[in-house]
Amino acid sequence: MKASACSKIILLGEHAVVYGVPAIAVPLSTVRAYVEATPADAFTITADTDPSWRLALTDEHPFIQLVQRIAEQTQTVLPAVRMHIQSQVPIASGLGSGAAIATALARALLAHTGQALPLEKLNALIYESETYYHGTPSGIDNTVIVYEKPVFFQRSQPIQVLDAFEPFTLVIANTGIAAPTREAVADVRRLYERDPKRISKVFEHIQQLVLNGLDAMTRGDWQVLGDAFDANHRLLQDLTVSCPELDALVNEARAAGALGAKLSGGGRGGNLIALVEPAQAAHVEDRLLHAGAVWTKIVEVKP
Ligand code: PMV
Repeated sequence: MKASACSKIILLGEHAVVYGVPAIAVPLSTVRAYVEATPADAFTITADTDPSWRLALTDEHPFIQLVQRIAEQTQTVLPAVRMHIQSQVPIASGLGSGAAIATALARALLAHTGQALPLEKLNALIYESETYYHGTPSGIDNTVIVYEKPVFFQRSQPIQVLDAFEPFTLVIANTGIAAPTREAVADVRRLYERDPKRISKVFEHIQQLVLNGLDAMTRGDWQVLGDAFDANHRLLQDLTVSCPELDALVNEARAAGALGAKLSGGGRGGNLIALVEPAQAAHVEDRLLHAGAVWTKIVEVKP
């Protein structure tokens, strides 16, 4: 029994989203986490990417907490199976690796025990497991990944699926620097507490860019969306969540002809996204690889 879950990319609004600003995120259906359940002597979780995980899976581990919560909610006991994780999602890089693996794990367990949970319930459980990684996640990662739909996401508001916009092309590039989102989020919190007036202004500005970006997506105005990417990146620099490697690759993408580029996700490493004309995508990707990106992907974003 094999189950999977997509990864995700935040287009606009990361970090500010933690403070109630809306953000736009889209699923990455071609970069996925897989979990296969096969009969075993006892319930175990193993992984391709990190064999030491098995040893580290104490009762406090988010994945163990998650499967126990699922067993509770479906009134079943954990079956004697080996849950084997194979993930294509780079870890700690802004693609929602934790939520993707957790969702695939939940789906594999549910499928194996012949149970089902409404998406809303599954989403709430994955959010809960995200709190172990992030401390105070906004909920955007789990929402996009569980529903596998582009969303306009605002904390404590009903989920707004984006089902009408013009398709566009992104180049995603990974700096190769694994950066825990939790620390970047905590640093932004400190910054905010030190100077709430200034940081609130930054959040307000980001909110405007998210709204402009959404409008540009529906009209197919790629120059405006690209400008929103650029401006959002500058504001993320103000929030201290960029880094020299991200800045260098963002500049390289623009110099190679991208319409706009920004970091995506927690920052301080991880990924950036560049909005490109489809015909430019391979060239921008090539330049980013030459400039030091360790992983790239061209994706067409559509409703
Ligand atoms: O680094 P990622 O992909 O987990 O994205 C985190 C997005 C933040 O806005 C920085 C945090 C959050 O919980 O929304």
